[in-house]
Amino acid sequence: MNTDDGKINRGVVIEALGAVPSARDGAELADLLTACVEGGASIGFLAPLPRAEADAYWGKIAGDLSGGFRVLLVARDRVGGKIIGSAQVMCEAKANGRHRGEVQKVMVHPAYRRRRIAARLMAEIERIAVTRGLTLLFLDTSDSHAGARVFYERLAYVYAGGIPNYALDPHGTPEKNAIFYKVLAAN
Ligand SMILES: CC(C)(COP(=O)(O)OP(=O)(O)OC[C@H]1O[C@@H](n2cnc3c(N)ncnc32)[C@H](O)[C@@H]1OP(=O)(O)O)[C@@H](O)C(=O)NCCC(=O)NCCS
Repeated sequence: MNTDDGKINRGVVIEALGAVPSARDGAELADLLTACVEGGASIGFLAPLPRAEADAYWGKIAGDLSGGFRVLLVARDRVGGKIIGSAQVMCEAKANGRHRGEVQKVMVHPAYRRRRIAARLMAEIERIAVTRGLTLLFLDTSDSHAGARVFYERLAYVYAGGIPNYALDPHGTPEKNAIFYKVLAAN
């Protein structure tokens, strides 16, 4: 699915990966995760990130895709098709929570930042969420990593609070998290 709106960043295509990624996509996803973690992103891993751990993470995500509750988007460089960003939404499976989804692992390769790539990934996440009947998105990010709080605030996500020492940053320092949510307009 190509959701390029043609107005901004014509060099990037946003696409949903609906099945187990090809070997090339799998390797590029592992490269993306590694570059983000080693660049200081607090997204659930410590640096240096062993390749086997990056591969295992994406293997688990790929295994989830057939279940229908997880959506994995990638941003590709139009020239050559390399994966330079990704984002996920995990739709709640429990009967009492099927109106909500958790946004996970929004990341853009450090060399491609501030080109509205993550903003486009989030716009597509929200469009898919509305299509599926979700009315609430939430997410958990680091409070201290440069950019993530400002980024979600810029996209009109509401800061709900944070827990001190929630997780270690990639270099092992405890840091507070930041929980955000957004109420989506009904379809
Ligand atoms: C957060 C992240 C996804 C943003 O990706 P990006 O493609 O550079 O973001 P965008 O270009 O779409 O930014 C949209 C707006 O958010 C704000 N923003 C994004 N990054 C920012 C930064 N580092 N500092 C200040 N504001 C920032 C800006 O207002 C920006 O608009 P502008 O460039 O026109 O001013 C990226 O920095 C990243 O991958 N970080 C590491 C992973 C992470 O922490 N993910 C979030 C937790 S899940």
